Amino acid sequence: MTLLEEIREKASKKGKTIVLPEGMEERTLQAIKEIVKQKIANPILLGNESDIKGLASKIGADISGAQIIDPVSSALYDDFVQAFYEMRKSKGIDLDKAKATMLDPLYFASMMVKMGKADGEVAGAENTTGNVLRPALQIIKTAPGMSAVSGAFIMIVPNSEFGDKGIFVFADCAVTPVPTAEQMAEFAMASAETAVALCGIEDPKVGMLSFSTKGSAAHETVEKVVAATKIAQERFPNLKVDGEFQADAAIVPSVGKSKAPGSPVAGSCNVLVFPDLQAGNISYKLVQRLAKAEAIGPILQGMAKPVNDLSRGCNVEDIVNVVAMTAVKA
Ligand code: ACO
Repeated sequence: MTLLEEIREKASKKGKTIVLPEGMEERTLQAIKEIVKQKIANPILLGNESDIKGLASKIGADISGAQIIDPVSSALYDDFVQAFYEMRKSKGIDLDKAKATMLDPLYFASMMVKMGKADGEVAGAENTTGNVLRPALQIIKTAPGMSAVSGAFIMIVPNSEFGDKGIFVFADCAVTPVPTAEQMAEFAMASAETAVALCGIEDPKVGMLSFSTKGSAAHETVEKVVAATKIAQERFPNLKVDGEFQADAAIVPSVGKSKAPGSPVAGSCNVLVFPDLQAGNISYKLVQRLAKAEAIGPILQGMAKPVNDLSRGCNVEDIVNVVAMTAVKA
């Protein structure tokens, strides 16, 4: 069974409800049939019911297993407006603005998750990452103890002797442009949890990446990674984490042994935490293209409840898989 098949199977045992706010997005409608058939989740589509049904019939998508909720006429709307107003009035939101905002399906979906009307949310087939994340950050917010959200990728590298039989978790590749040392430490813990929950990695070993290994170079950006490593080790004593490592020292046993002797994880890391978003995003795309790795994600970490962002280039299978991952995380 492949990793994705395992994730779908895990999801099917949970019976979670996932809201898909992009109800007029064709690939999203086409994904519903598989989501329902494999019992991956109980899907909710947002939008005008007759418009959604009309589009589904035009493209031949079976959406009979999905519930459809129209924010405009929903019985939830008034409560959601009030809740959003209370939540955001200190940020200058008045009632009129709250009423207009709750008509936006992305905000309505985040409020459904916040208020327990759905267990998770998946969007982004037609919206940018920023537009999907902003409502979630404002409404669902970060989990207790987490100050920032990160986006992890599961990288499945074919024929690789590194990581956990070629499987790695990379973070942050999608959300926080310049994390603080404290936030990098949080990403280390969250990524190890993702490795266990979604990849079946039993022994996550986290490498905090840099262009320096154990003091080989001096720069303020290296100091951040050194500090992040120390914070992660102190704050999460059960986490196997070390650094600062260059990428080869993190994953190649012989290099880890020579550059970071005595480290409990050098040379055998299967979770890689990057110093900033440029490094993380560039790295996952290079590994995906050059090593022909499968890149699954981004899986948002550190949110109080699960929300996941799709790529606008996603296909129907990707949507089914991201719904499954969201259900497993819920
Ligand atoms: N973690 C947690 N909370 C955050 C974060 C974060 N990283 N960033 C912002 N917030 C919170 C803020 O505290 C704020 O909360 P408040 O309004 O209650 O005070 C709220 O979110 C909005 O903050 P803004 O700063 O106004 O949000 P911004 O418009 O800057 O958007 C965002 C934040 C969307 C995460 C932005 O940083 C972003 O666009 N990041 C990069 C996303 C991206 O383009 N990724 C690459 C592509 S994805 C890919 O290739 C797979």
